[in-house]
Amino acid sequence: MSAITSLTNHQVRLASRPVGLPTRDNWSFTTEPVAEPGPGGVLVKTLSLSLDPAMRGWMNEGKSYIPPVEIGAVMRAGGVGKVIASNNAAFAVGDYVNAGLDVQEYCLIPEANIKRSGMFKIDPRMGLTSWLNVLGMPGMTGYFGLMDVGQPKAGETVVVSGAAGAVGQTVGQIAKLKGCRVVGIAGGKAKCDWVVKELGFDACIDYKAGDVKAGLKEHCPKGVDIYFDNVGGDILDAVLTRITRGARIIICGAISQYNNTTPVKGPANYLSLLVNRARMEGIVVFDYADRYPVAIAEMAGYLKDGKMKSKEDVVEGLENFPETLLKLFNGENFGKLVLQVAKD
Ligand SMILES: NC(=O)c1ccc[n+]([C@@H]2O[C@H](COP(=O)([O-])OP(=O)(O)OC[C@H]3O[C@@H](n4cnc5c(N)ncnc54)[C@H](OP(=O)(O)O)[C@@H]3O)[C@@H](O)[C@H]2O)c1
Repeated sequence: MSAITSLTNHQVRLASRPVGLPTRDNWSFTTEPVAEPGPGGVLVKTLSLSLDPAMRGWMNEGKSYIPPVEIGAVMRAGGVGKVIASNNAAFAVGDYVNAGLDVQEYCLIPEANIKRSGMFKIDPRMGLTSWLNVLGMPGMTGYFGLMDVGQPKAGETVVVSGAAGAVGQTVGQIAKLKGCRVVGIAGGKAKCDWVVKELGFDACIDYKAGDVKAGLKEHCPKGVDIYFDNVGGDILDAVLTRITRGARIIICGAISQYNNTTPVKGPANYLSLLVNRARMEGIVVFDYADRYPVAIAEMAGYLKDGKMKSKEDVVEGLENFPETLLKLFNGENFGKLVLQVAKD
């Protein structure tokens, strides 16, 4: 038995589809032996996993931008890890990589799946968890959603909800660097203080403490030119009442609706789009995969120059996956939520 095949892989699998908020019963915990990679394949040891609001959608049956996770399958997750066995010339043992690793300790990636897993080498000196945040999928979402769909111009007012989260922190910081006025919306004083004092947002509205419409009136005196929507629901409706002529609304997500047991609540104030000749457009980050290197290079430069920050909220232990995921839906995560599976 080799050093590799003596290893055991602990995994978290989808056991059943949740109704409302997921519970521990929706998951099963399994083990299986680790196998050597085949020709052209790679074996990656998971270090940290990205916990994403989208995971809730992947647990549902039905058509979306990506197929649902099958019952019994290891839960889908992106992560960062270290190559521990390789038969592929592009990846050497000891390389750090970002890839679809799923919620497990070891990920065997056959040659045929390497492209699909999105695997690429990363520079650990940038901070491993930054590769799940500003330099990873949420950062790409914020960057391309804002730059391609939002098309910000200096002097415009950008509002972003979920401001202290993974996507929100990227959007606000990029918008500031592009010369915009930036107003965040977040839950709680600590998050609002952080985006203003640490990230340099111009203001932040605590939606849990007061009226969002009144906050928008106060902090966006010229109206809202770009709204980057991470939450949907009532907050989207409130922002729609303050948009300017030609405003762009980026529909990135609607976390306030993901655990609904009733139909998703759509915006009642959508006629504001008509009056203001405004547009609302959805974004799926994977459509920009070919251009990730451009965004990564730009944001890595900002991080190195101290012009941007990347804040992660790290929880340890694969076995804590079910409860940790819930932090996203009750706002307990402060920064990008990461599950550390193993220490480097
Ligand atoms: N379209 C794409 O390709 C794509 C890619 C990545 C992410 N997304 C979407 O982007 C959004 C943000 O994702 P993320 O990874 O950056 O998560 P995140 O913002 O780091 O974490 C989720 C945050 O959402 C807020 N929240 C939860 N329930 C809420 C509610 N009912 N009303 C208002 N806010 C609520 C909480 O912050 P507070 O404490 O401030 O409430 C929570 O911390 C999600 O909707 C996600 O699905 C889309």
